[in-house]
Amino acid sequence: MPGIVIVGAQWGDEGKGKVTDLLAEQADLVIRFQGGNNAGHTIIRDGETFKFHLIPSGILYPGKTCAIGNGVVIDPAVLTRELEELRHRRIDVSGLRISANAHVIMPYHVKLDTAGELKLGKLEIGTTRRGIGPAYSDKAARLGIRVQDLLDPKILRKKIMTAMEPKQQMLRPFAKDPELDLHTMVETYATYGHRLEPHITDTAKLCWDALDADRTVLFEGAQGTMLDLDHGTYPFVTSSNPVAGAACIGAGVGPRDIDEVWGIAKAYTTRVGAGPFPSELEDGLGDTLRERGGEMGTTTGRPRRCGWLDLVALRYAVRLNTMTALAVTKLDVLSGIDPLRVCVRYRHPEGAVFDEFPYHQSIIHTAEPEYEELPGFEGDIGDCRREEDLPAEARDYLAAIADHMGIPVRLVGVGPGRDQVIWMGSDRQAALLRSEARSA
Ligand code: IMP
Repeated sequence: MPGIVIVGAQWGDEGKGKVTDLLAEQADLVIRFQGGNNAGHTIIRDGETFKFHLIPSGILYPGKTCAIGNGVVIDPAVLTRELEELRHRRIDVSGLRISANAHVIMPYHVKLDTAGELKLGKLEIGTTRRGIGPAYSDKAARLGIRVQDLLDPKILRKKIMTAMEPKQQMLRPFAKDPELDLHTMVETYATYGHRLEPHITDTAKLCWDALDADRTVLFEGAQGTMLDLDHGTYPFVTSSNPVAGAACIGAGVGPRDIDEVWGIAKAYTTRVGAGPFPSELEDGLGDTLRERGGEMGTTTGRPRRCGWLDLVALRYAVRLNTMTALAVTKLDVLSGIDPLRVCVRYRHPEGAVFDEFPYHQSIIHTAEPEYEELPGFEGDIGDCRREEDLPAEARDYLAAIADHMGIPVRLVGVGPGRDQVIWMGSDRQAALLRSEARSA
């Protein structure tokens, strides 16, 4: 104990990387459990910016064990590049561990992702085109290449041939693409395997050993609850499960190994890609949030769609993840906006009212948000470090969120810097005491 899961409570990009980075200080192991390099975390530490797509955020702590779990899909080209960049910046990466059972994103997955989107035309999902969906499809179809396969060129060759066979027709436009040449693929990916070999291991066992020894394990989620393949706004979702339950599958632990679930939510809402977004602001205020919040995708550079905080969707996420606490990020972005609005229910054009997130796709698409207004706050809150430093209206805004959700807000982000956070109540102290007690 304890196992702490960190999940996105909205449509991704909530600032999970920063919260993971902060909590990682007290953790012994940080493990990612789903998604791939469709995710992107930006961490600003001592004025230096770090961007990660695959490597868990805890890597910036020297010697910390950081793992990429079996539930992640790995593009080895991206992973080796990230490792090289970190080494170049003199960050110790010896603590990185990669699950031998994680699946590999192959070049044909990337091509098929783009081709699939083009085929959908106006109905496109707006994927990150990183091959995520096709890689998870192959995993489910039992045609996937796993990290361990990279270590044996003979097996690798056979598996690539088997995986490509049923895709012949879809891959016809890429027949002459040198990246998809069998010999080249086997050579290139076996070389990746060789380079990654010192990091490859059984990451589930790493978790068990840490938990058995009473150490803290952080399970780092990617994307967000509303992008969950089962529970999100299907089909405008990602191809994995970003909810807390998936930490068990994607890291190899049981439900009783999870003690806490932290949901990360922005003080407003954003979404990239297509799909319903009831509280979206398609006016000047949406632009203001985008500009002030720097709401451009870390992975694709696409502008994010912005809107008011949607408490209906957030409550749904609290329940789906059995969240024990919330971290509210980017509160500073709302400064100077008055009044503030939070969506408390949806109304269907025919009059039906939805206090809970509706299960039917057509209703979500046509739902009109109904808002509660709250007084805005003024001034730069970037230097606030204690709850009582915040303007009363900002505190009321946070209290309204906690009230609606029925769980405490334990951490608040007031700026992009690593130190620009407020630990609510005595949480930080409690966390530190726990960690001191453990090391004593
Ligand atoms: P895919 O995960 O690339 O297949 O994309 C499916 C949907 O998830 C698209 O709407 C993407 O924009 C969205 N998505 C995937 N990863 C992220 C993320 O890390 N943040 C926000 N949206 C994401």
